[in-house]
Amino acid sequence: MTTSVRQGTPTEKAPEPVLGTELIPKERYTSKEYMELEWERMWTKVWNMAGRESDIPNVGDYFTTELGPESLLIVREAEDKVRAFYNVCPHRGNQIRNPGMGHAESFQCAYHFFEFNLDGSKKFVPDEDTFTQGVPQETALVEVPCDTWGGFVWFNMNPDAEPLLEFLHPVNEHLDPYHMDEYAIVQDLTVEWDTNWKASVDAFNEVYHVQGIHPQLLESLDDIHVQIDLYERHNRYLVPFGLVSPRYPNQKEITQPLREFMVAAGIDPDTFEGGMGDVRPAMQAATKKSAAAQGLDVSELNDDQLSDDYHYYIFPSLTFNTNALNFLFFRQRPHPTDPNKMFFDMQTYVRIPPGVDHPPRPIHAQYKHGEISIGLVMDQDSYNLPRVQKGMNSRAYPGLLINYRERRIRHMHKVLDNYLEGPDR
Ligand code: FES
Ligand SMILES: [Fe+2]
Repeated sequence: MTTSVRQGTPTEKAPEPVLGTELIPKERYTSKEYMELEWERMWTKVWNMAGRESDIPNVGDYFTTELGPESLLIVREAEDKVRAFYNVCPHRGNQIRNPGMGHAESFQCAYHFFEFNLDGSKKFVPDEDTFTQGVPQETALVEVPCDTWGGFVWFNMNPDAEPLLEFLHPVNEHLDPYHMDEYAIVQDLTVEWDTNWKASVDAFNEVYHVQGIHPQLLESLDDIHVQIDLYERHNRYLVPFGLVSPRYPNQKEITQPLREFMVAAGIDPDTFEGGMGDVRPAMQAATKKSAAAQGLDVSELNDDQLSDDYHYYIFPSLTFNTNALNFLFFRQRPHPTDPNKMFFDMQTYVRIPPGVDHPPRPIHAQYKHGEISIGLVMDQDSYNLPRVQKGMNSRAYPGLLINYRERRIRHMHKVLDNYLEGPDR
């Protein structure tokens, strides 16, 4: 287990890197060759999130995590040791476990009963003497670097991976004040989308599309005064919530969504005496009060964090929409073979006061695009993304024309370039 020093989340604007203005070639989103390059040089070299540490509280608990063509087996081998293995038997290649979670004293492969200890080492091989070449002692599950941070388990398919916290820096320090290890998962679903994983990342890394795709959000957030900070690999933007957009025609109106925010924060909108501009500070004060009433310590968070979306993107595909008392987590996973498809994981977490039992863990559910509603805003994004992918495949479309407000997209591509061709390779 690794820890880092807690300070408040910095609010300073990071210096702007020079990112250029060229078109981003559309082949990055549509070509199989590019997808394979990403797999070889990026996905297998970065720290990936495997899942929640609280899903494996006891020694012998395990879950699998699926990423592109690979499946990994995450195991609590000892009270303080979590390990990650490729989910494949070294005998004839059978998968050791089906996708999901469970508990094991040891891992027996169902095909010919090779058996492995929780540390991945060989435990038993039936009819071992019939392997005339001998079964080497090192016949074992293949292990990869694994660590924990924020209540999550992480793995890296690069045996020479840098330490997890070095990879996460500075986002781990920014997020530590939320105490994410104290949150419980209350929603857990995956939707298969007909789009490239990066088109989905892009859709959440700019608010330029709010006016087009989510016009109702203009009634409750400021899509113009958004601070963007681009770090070495990761980035963030800070989106003010609890006020109307400068694009919204009536700057004085306490809109219905603002009234709903007030109710959620414990304010009665019917007796509220302030104007539109007073809603956000009132929400912040009320959230502080309700956190204290629940026994939640939010003293490490600044006032803006009590109302706004401090929206963190960890390269290549993790998003934390943070809030003082809950966060909405997104993860984009590439499809094993098709650059036009991906898996979108969406999870909601709520902060639980110390000493209070966590609610029962929801069962993970997986859907195809359009099978269920995942909320109005997300439905609007998911309706749009397959159309974007189809358009990108058009002969008429050369690549992404990116404006300054969309520069997190350009930054992501720069970081990707570093893995594919540059210093991180
Ligand atoms: S493939 Fe696993 S024991 Fe044969
Ligand atoms: Fe959106």
